Amino acid sequence: MRIVICHDYAEMSRKGFEEIKKVVVSKEQPVLGLATGSTPIGLYQEWIKDYNENKTSYEKLITFNLDEYVGLPEGHPESYRSFMNHHLFSHINVPADQVHVPNGNGDLKANCAAYEAAMEQYEIDLQLLGVGRNGHIGFNEPGTPFNQTTHVVSLDEKTIADNARFFDGDVNQVPKQAVTMGVATIMKAKRILLLASGESKADAIYELIHGKVSEQIPATVLQNHPDVVVIVDEAAASRLSR
Ligand code: F6R
Repeated sequence: MRIVICHDYAEMSRKGFEEIKKVVVSKEQPVLGLATGSTPIGLYQEWIKDYNENKTSYEKLITFNLDEYVGLPEGHPESYRSFMNHHLFSHINVPADQVHVPNGNGDLKANCAAYEAAMEQYEIDLQLLGVGRNGHIGFNEPGTPFNQTTHVVSLDEKTIADNARFFDGDVNQVPKQAVTMGVATIMKAKRILLLASGESKADAIYELIHGKVSEQIPATVLQNHPDVVVIVDEAAASRLSR
C-alpha cells in the first residue's frame, strides 16, 4: 500500500487526478470505477480542467460507479447518476452509453446481477474510493461479508446522518437503502485509489492502514489488495505517525 500525505484537499485532488490520468493515457480503452460524495469533487474539477486545457479524449473511456440510492426518481438531483452528470460526465467527451451507474429502481436483484454481468466484460484498471467515517467503502457498511458482489444494502445510521447534508439536512429524506458494488467486486480492480480528507476520516484511515482486517471495518480489506494508493490530507492523516 502506498500512502501519500498531502497538505490539503486541493493537493489531494491534484495528486488523485494524476493517478487517473496515468491510467487514461496508458490504455487504449481505460476502464475506471468511480465514486460520488464530497471527497472526489475536487479530483473531478481537476479532470474537467485538464480536459479543457489539454483536450485529453475520453471517447474510449468506460466507467462503472460504485453505488446508487434505492428509490430516488430518475433525474432526482441527489441521485448518484445526477451527481456524476453534474460533476463530471456532462463536462467531458465520454459517450453516455459507456458510463454505468447501478439502477436503484425496479427489480433490484435483477439490476445487481445485470451490473455484475456488465462489469464482467471488462477489468477495472483503477477503482476510485472514498471512505465513510465508519470505514465503509462503496456502501458496504460494517458487517458486510467480504465475499459479496453487487447487492442491496440498508444504510448505517451514521451514513444516513452524514448524507443528510445533501438532503436539506433532513435525515428523513435520505434513502434508507442503496445498491452497491460489493467488497469482492471492488477487490477485483487491478488498482485501487482511495482518497480521504478531513479529521472526521482520521480514525477510518488509521484503521485502514494499521487496523486488524475485519468485516466490522470494511476498508481494512484493502490491506489484502496488491496495489492500493491512499492519498489523504494532513487532517485525515492526523492519527498516523510519520
Ligand atoms: C460514494 C461512496 C461512499 C463515499 C463515502 C465518503 O460513491 O461509495 O463510500 O465515498 O461515504 O463520502 P464523502 O466523500 O462524502 O465523505
